Amino acid sequence: MSLIPAGEPRQKITVTSLREKKLHHQPITCLTAYDYSSARLVDEAAIDIVLVGDSVAQVVFGYENTLSVTIEEMLHHTRAARRGVKHALLVGDMPFGSYQVDAAQAVRNAARFVKEAGAEVVKVEGGEKRADLIRRIIDAEMPVAGHIGLTPQSVNVMGGYKVQGKSLGGVEQLMRDAVSLDRAGVAFIVLEGIPREVAAMITAEVETPTIGIGAGPDCDGQVLVIHDILNLTFGPPAKFVRRYGDAKTLISDAIQAFRADVAGRHYPADEESYHLPKETSTALDTVLERKRAMRR
Ligand code: KIV
Repeated sequence: MSLIPAGEPRQKITVTSLREKKLHHQPITCLTAYDYSSARLVDEAAIDIVLVGDSVAQVVFGYENTLSVTIEEMLHHTRAARRGVKHALLVGDMPFGSYQVDAAQAVRNAARFVKEAGAEVVKVEGGEKRADLIRRIIDAEMPVAGHIGLTPQSVNVMGGYKVQGKSLGGVEQLMRDAVSLDRAGVAFIVLEGIPREVAAMITAEVETPTIGIGAGPDCDGQVLVIHDILNLTFGPPAKFVRRYGDAKTLISDAIQAFRADVAGRHYPADEESYHLPKETSTALDTVLERKRAMRR
């Protein structure tokens, strides 16, 4: 079901239109996508933001966490998604190690996402401590999205994937993080794995749109990983994941049916085969008949 009234041309989503959505209390939608076909389907479903997330590390590459994915791999997937996206805002996730060394490295790598892969926004993890770096990237004319709370690239520092901001000190730090990113001028702030109450306070406090994942319903928008909503992951889902389809069963059933058809010689059928043109077939019959006659 599309929320776009029939016949009304779809507007290109921009950083400015996201702010307008927040102002008008219109929920913002975001899904991850890592290739042409899924990005195209997400775009055609009128989702506002396509995020080429570093979660590609787990759901596509099968790595244990997001730390090993490289900038080359992220660029490769962002380029593929770019070709499928027309109206949504395309966001490239800067992988671990591509912006933490120094600002010059971060600006250079952000520019690769824009120049080589067509990203319109780059996303970096971290709050207060990343504000200066984010300003440098924005100064270089590239919009940046922030990401605070449970930041998967800090998994080893956090000691696992734990909900953040549960103590008073944690809430204060999250507020400082959000306000710093707001002042730095980010395009939107992903709030991941934080209590609903804290996400609501941040959303009310900042002018920047907030996009929640495991942050409750009071954010300006919601993001989920496409493999999660399609049941294409192999571990137990996080509490906040809602399944909207069962691609695992669909794909598995199709693969098993193919295997059974080939094993039982039910595939391909004659209608699924190419045939010689009539003249070639007649000529071939004549040649074969002559050969048979010579052998007799
Ligand atoms: O990489 C990713 O998929 C993300 C979302 C979870 C926000 O960063």
